[in-house]
Amino acid sequence: MDFIASGKSCLEWQGDCLVVGLLEESLPLTGVLSDLNDQVGGLLQMLIEEEAFKGKAGSTAVTRLGPDSDIKKMGVVGLGSSDSMGLESLRKGAATAARLAQKAKCPVLGMSFPVWNNNPTLTAQALAEGATLALNQDNRFKSELETEKTALSAIHLLSFEGQEPAITAAQTVCDGVILARELVSAPPNVVTPEKLADTAAEIARDHGLQLEILERADCEALGMGAYLGVAQASDLPPKFIHLTYAPENPKRKLAIIGKGLTFDSGGLNLKPSGSGIEMMKIDMGGAAAVLGAAKAIAQLKPDVEVHFISAAAENMVSGHAMRPGDILTAGNGKTIEVNNTDAEGRLTLADALVFADKLGVDAMIDLATLTGACIVALGDDIAALFSPNEQLAQSLSAAADLSGEKLWRMPMEEKYFEGLKSVVADMKNTGPRAGGSITAALFLKQFVKETPWAHIDLAGPVWTDKEEGYNSAGATGYGVRMLVQWIQGEN
Ligand code: BES
Ligand code: MN
Ligand code: ZN
Repeated sequence: MDFIASGKSCLEWQGDCLVVGLLEESLPLTGVLSDLNDQVGGLLQMLIEEEAFKGKAGSTAVTRLGPDSDIKKMGVVGLGSSDSMGLESLRKGAATAARLAQKAKCPVLGMSFPVWNNNPTLTAQALAEGATLALNQDNRFKSELETEKTALSAIHLLSFEGQEPAITAAQTVCDGVILARELVSAPPNVVTPEKLADTAAEIARDHGLQLEILERADCEALGMGAYLGVAQASDLPPKFIHLTYAPENPKRKLAIIGKGLTFDSGGLNLKPSGSGIEMMKIDMGGAAAVLGAAKAIAQLKPDVEVHFISAAAENMVSGHAMRPGDILTAGNGKTIEVNNTDAEGRLTLADALVFADKLGVDAMIDLATLTGACIVALGDDIAALFSPNEQLAQSLSAAADLSGEKLWRMPMEEKYFEGLKSVVADMKNTGPRAGGSITAALFLKQFVKETPWAHIDLAGPVWTDKEEGYNSAGATGYGVRMLVQWIQGEN
């Protein structure tokens, strides 16, 4: 997709389809919009009236203009009321506009949208992000392409002269989001631990990052018994990925860690049918977000050192499988009684956290599709944020606010750790059903020493069954934009 930061206004522009983003308060039409209406012989006003268009968020109307017009089609997209307008309404509005032009079979789209907060740079970036992400559709595993999807080829952002850098920034971030989406939506026979490692190697090679892959024997030497316990049933070897972006004289050092289970069968506590076992390719959504962020950060080059980490593995069943009841020892010496082999993510993260903690970073975050309980608590759209550190929780919440990814702070209720007490080991890996996402977070906390740490459970928003806003049905790439925003904010 070509984006053009056009100096032309909606009155001067010529092309296939002009879409105007309208707030509820933009009606009745005044100023430039009223001039535009005059220019098209009152058709804009007629369209609005005949379709009873009120500017409600997500609403649209479109019409063909006459044979003598410089513009073939004209559409309106509702942006909701002005007091609720933010970058997220612009992203969604741009997504709707792009889809509208696509459906109307218009190769060249002109978007005329209001500027948010007198900030044309953030506005242009949000518009380009929304349109890019909405148009991204994964057809890699279909033998016949849906040809109509290729109609739209250029988008002109009208009255955004000089905003090319904002468009480039949007495209870089979206590159990362799309990588994450593609990794998550690819099936588990394609995205294996090795494939994740290869993807990290590709990013390292293309953008000059350092890469360290720890093989099984290396992990054994480091005492990563919890991680290796999970990996031991699979015929596919585990790959511990450590990718580093290290600029000279960094202002801060950060680590982001992603759960990288390329398939979660549940192990010997096998997931029953009806539990969504066939969707468990999404269980590397955390690792995908981390690699997506790595790809974007490597190009945006902030003044921050970032370690991108994933203890990638597959949770399978075999004669080598860890048994319910086995006791594992993690890299920090703590012992874990595995009372449920399906609570495997926290075991892999335990060793990844111990590893990251030794890097001497200023903060570390893990992202994981960790618990079904998190979906019960917050639904499909909202991820959970757990952190004992106020400042870190706040900076992540602020980043998520700007990126438009929904994130809700959850309590780290220490008392619930009682549910993880074991008779024979330091802890069990699974507590009672109630508060399952909280006990999971408390389990992780046992593997963090002093480093400020946060945990994000993205089991809900990693995937969507239906198209919504700028997400197509499928993997959402949740987390990438928030991570990039957060890392750049630490600059
Ligand atoms: N990968 C799952 C969590 C999950 C469930 C992610 C549904 C996305 C959608 C995780 O490994 C798991 O199996 N968790 C168990 C934990 C339980 C055994 C304590 C769960 O949530 O049921
Ligand atoms: Mn599991
Ligand atoms: Zn899992």
